[in-house]
Order: sequence, then structure tokens, then C-alpha cells
Amino acid sequence: MKKKAYIETYGCQMNVNDTEVIFSILEGAGYERTEEMDQADLVMANTCSIRDNAEQRIWGRIEVFNQLRSRRPGLVVGIVGCMAERLKDKLLDTRKVDLVVGPDAYRSLPRLLEAIAPGSPQIDVLLSRDETYADITPVRTDKNGISAFISIMRGCNNVCSYCVVPYTRGAERSRDAHSIVREACDVYQKGYKEVTLLGQNVDSYLWKSETETVNFANLLERVAAIAPDLRVRFATSHPKDISDEVIYTMAAHPNICKHIHLPVQSGSSRMLDIMRRKYDREWYLERVAKIREVMPDCGLTTDVIAGFCSETPQDHQDTLTLMEAVGFDWAFMFAYSDRPGTLANRTMKDDVPAEEKNRRLNEIIELQNRKSLERYRAQIGRTLEVLVEGPSKRDPAMLCGRASNNMMCVFPAASRSKGSYTQVVVKDCTSATLICE
Ligand code: 5AD
Ligand code: SF4
Repeated sequence: MKKKAYIETYGCQMNVNDTEVIFSILEGAGYERTEEMDQADLVMANTCSIRDNAEQRIWGRIEVFNQLRSRRPGLVVGIVGCMAERLKDKLLDTRKVDLVVGPDAYRSLPRLLEAIAPGSPQIDVLLSRDETYADITPVRTDKNGISAFISIMRGCNNVCSYCVVPYTRGAERSRDAHSIVREACDVYQKGYKEVTLLGQNVDSYLWKSETETVNFANLLERVAAIAPDLRVRFATSHPKDISDEVIYTMAAHPNICKHIHLPVQSGSSRMLDIMRRKYDREWYLERVAKIREVMPDCGLTTDVIAGFCSETPQDHQDTLTLMEAVGFDWAFMFAYSDRPGTLANRTMKDDVPAEEKNRRLNEIIELQNRKSLERYRAQIGRTLEVLVEGPSKRDPAMLCGRASNNMMCVFPAASRSKGSYTQVVVKDCTSATLICE
């Protein structure tokens, strides 16, 4: 009988895709996937280190896994992903994990699993300069069978001073363009209608062979050419790297969705400099203006950090006025969290008091909620094309699906089925959903 593997995934979409790669590697080692933790022979958490509270959650899960192990002797408990790489020693010291594997070492899982014995936990957290798992076909774990995620690159070469990713995921490397196109063709043939190309900084994608050089715009074009009814999305873009070529390529292909996630982090040029983002407020606003000039209906979302080192009330105001000026559809908003090993941690003071950070964060959230509602309201009366994803979570009598601009739409179930495209008219909205007919 096959052994069963259970994996919980935390953190970003790239981690979700890594879990799919891990399942594929485990299949080769005689494991099958289970969604029932109680039935597993191997339980793992694919972890995230980006903010302290993400790590705190994992320590709690390790306790839960160990309670399960006390009932099921022989159960293997593993920690993989960003936290494995960052906290290997601490994890092994607890004696509560048998396996610690970093983001570039998943191919060693079968070997490490063989070698586990009582009292001899196994570890591999080496980072690689060329691992992209290009030849591995991920085991899709999404529930709907419509939207698939494809990693096009790994790691990150930017050293934003607050960010732990370059340390947990290593240097940037781009995956073989042909293997990406093959994977996208493969999911399309399996019935998927949407692919999202993933990378920490997709705009710096660059793959070279002896005969070709493929940049991100070229890659988008190749994936868009697979089929007119295959939607193409991507994340995440970097304001310093998003090029006119990418913007024009998006505009030229109806099946490339008109949505850009463009993390701004702060509206203050002084903070952006200290954050080492390599752009300033004016540059960011110019990129937004270009996007809107070429694609007036393009959805724009962002990430914002409140209370980074030395942030003054004026810097904070700059963030608010930028958000007011741009009018994002949606934002992920965070209070700054000091991460060990980062440039900020080593050279700057985390000097905005927690209370003040939260006060600023709340102001940011309040402003964004108002802006989201404005942006969604502006869609009322419009006709949008949505890809039907399935029943709406809130009301199973309704269907839901996203418009090209990434806004979620709900509409009566009529005759349209999951995976088809349909035209809807927007009648009403909340700050996160368009209510349509
Ligand atoms: N503290 C708070 N937020 C952070 N992010 C990254 N590092 C930190 C940190 N140390 C946020 C950024 C990034 C998103 C994925 O997480 O906004 O874009
Ligand atoms: Fe978390 Fe960043 Fe790692 Fe993704 S890459 S799991 S967001 S630390």
C-alpha cells in the first residue's frame, strides 16, 4: 500500500506551487497525497518567514503534529520552505521534527525520507544557483480545475532592506521558457482555462539558450499564443522593472488579463530609498500613468508597509496621498515586522512604536476600504467578461468568477457552467465583490 503525505501550505502563492512540486517528487518515492492529516504517514508544513506572525503560527502547528505523532508512532514530521532554511538549528533542537528541507532541496526528499531513523533527523537546506524544478510536473492541488499556477522563476536578486526572501529563497534564476510553455499547454489540455505565471519579480524574467533570449514580455506572448480561451495572469511585478514592452504586450492580447499587482510599499521617496526599492514616488506614479494610458481599465493592486524604520508622520502622509491619488482596487497592508538577518535588522532601528505602527496601518486600511468601494462602484452598469469558477461561497445558488481586472463577480447560476466564459452586467457591489446579472 502507498504511504500517505499531508502538507499544509503557508505564505505566498509560490509556496502553494512549491507544495505541488513536492507532491510530485513524493509520488516518485511511493507516496500519495491525502487531505486527512489523521491518515498520513508524513505530515509537513510548507512554511513562510515573511513576517513574524507567519512563523509563530508554524510553531503552533508543530505542537499539533507532535500530538498526532504521540498517537501514531512512526509518523514523520517535516518542516519545508522558507522557515526551514531560516530556522534549521532551532527546528532540530526542539526534537519535534524529523525532516527540515529548504526551498531548493526538494529533490532530496526521497533520499532523506529513507534515511530518517529514531534520533537521526534529516536536513537539507542548501540553496542552489540553478534549481528551477523545470522538469517536474506539479501535482495540481487546486480545487476547481480551472486556474493553475506556474512558477517561472525562483529566488530574488533585490535586496529590499525589510525582506527576508533573498535569504530564504536565494538568488534569482529563470526557468527554461520551453518548459513553461509546455506546462501551460499541458494544463490547458487538461481543461484549465487560466494560468498565473509566478515569480518574486516577473519583470526581470530572462532566459537564454544558445539560440534564444526570452524576456518576460516574450514569455507572456508565447503563453498567450497557446489558445485564445486560455487566460494569462502573472504576479508579482516590480515598479522598477515593469517595462513599456510588457504593458504593450498585455494590451495587445485580449487573453492576457488586465490586472497588475504592483507593490508600492510606501509613498515617501525617502522611505523607498531606505527600503532600497530603487524607485521613487514620481517613478511609481509615472508607471501607473503609463499603465492607465495604455490600458484604462487595468486593475491595479498593491502591497503597503506601515511604520518601517524611521518613518515620520510626514512619510506616512505621503503613503496616504499616494494611495488616494492612485486609487488601488485592493491592497495587502502590513505593519512592519523586523526580520532577523535583513539589512534593516542589521543596520537600522525598528523605532516606530507598535502602537503607532498599528494606528498608521489602520489609517491606511480605512483609506483603502473607501477607495476599494469607489473602484468597485465605478464598475456598476458595465458589462464584463468573467470566467466561471463555480458556486459562490456565500450563496451556493449563485456562481462566481473573476473579471479580467481580477475583481470577483457573483451572478445567478443560469445555464453557464464552471470553466466557461460569460458576459455579466454589474448591478451593485461591496468593497470586494461585484454583484451582477
Ligand atoms: N514586514 C512587513 N511586511 C513585509 N513584507 C515583506 N517583508 C515585510 C516585513 N519585514 C510585505 C511586503 C511584500 C509582501 C509580500 O509582504 O509588502 O510586498
Ligand atoms: Fe513567505 Fe516570502 Fe517565502 Fe513566500 S517567499 S513563503 S512570502 S517568506
